[in-house]
Amino acid sequence: MRFLITAGGTREYIDPVRFISNASSGKMGYTLARAALKVGHQVTLITAPTTLKPPTGVELIRVESAAHMFAAVKEHFGQCDCLIMAAAVADYTPARPSKTKLKKQSAKLTLELKPTPDVLKWAGRQRKPGPTLVGFALEDKDLRANAERKMREKRLDMIIANTPGAIGADTSTLHIKTADSHWIEVNTARKTASAARIIRIIETLRG
Ligand code: CTP
Repeated sequence: MRFLITAGGTREYIDPVRFISNASSGKMGYTLARAALKVGHQVTLITAPTTLKPPTGVELIRVESAAHMFAAVKEHFGQCDCLIMAAAVADYTPARPSKTKLKKQSAKLTLELKPTPDVLKWAGRQRKPGPTLVGFALEDKDLRANAERKMREKRLDMIIANTPGAIGADTSTLHIKTADSHWIEVNTARKTASAARIIRIIETLRG
């Protein structure tokens, strides 16, 4: 199979040297890329900035903002069998980024933000039936109900949900659901094993 995987937290620039981002490490996307490569799949990894070493054998595409990531996904979507959106794509970006470095002022500074394109929602709208779509959900309450809503709204084949406490943690529990299955829980103490399990579930979905 040809996997298109996104990873890392996007950077939304306020001016040439300052940006808004999030705490995503990129580990989940990179581990999934490695797991898919290990069992012989082709992987294109679209990555926002991280400190991680790219897996050997991956086609790596570096992006920064949600808009860059959207453009890269659009470019490669037609050639993939499965899109895994493991990236923490910023939901908002500065409405009017400054071309020059902002100067400090004594008055309060208000930043206006506008929504970014929802990459997965776009992918869900392209289905006919198309690639298998896998999304992530980070939920601090009503985890399964919220994740199931995202799965419906974005027309996903599979959703992987966890809690904000999982960011950067060594162990956490992933809650995984496919359109036709009940929820299953996977402990991430062994990240490589849990990533391999996710890839196996996706292989089963493709039949
Ligand atoms: N995602 C995306 N494009 C965005 C934002 C998110 O493709 N602009 C993807 C993420 O990569 C993830 C999934 O959508 O796989 C869930 O993202 P999340 O931000 O949790 O969902 P939202 O619908 O934005 O809901 P929330 O209000 O919880 O932020």
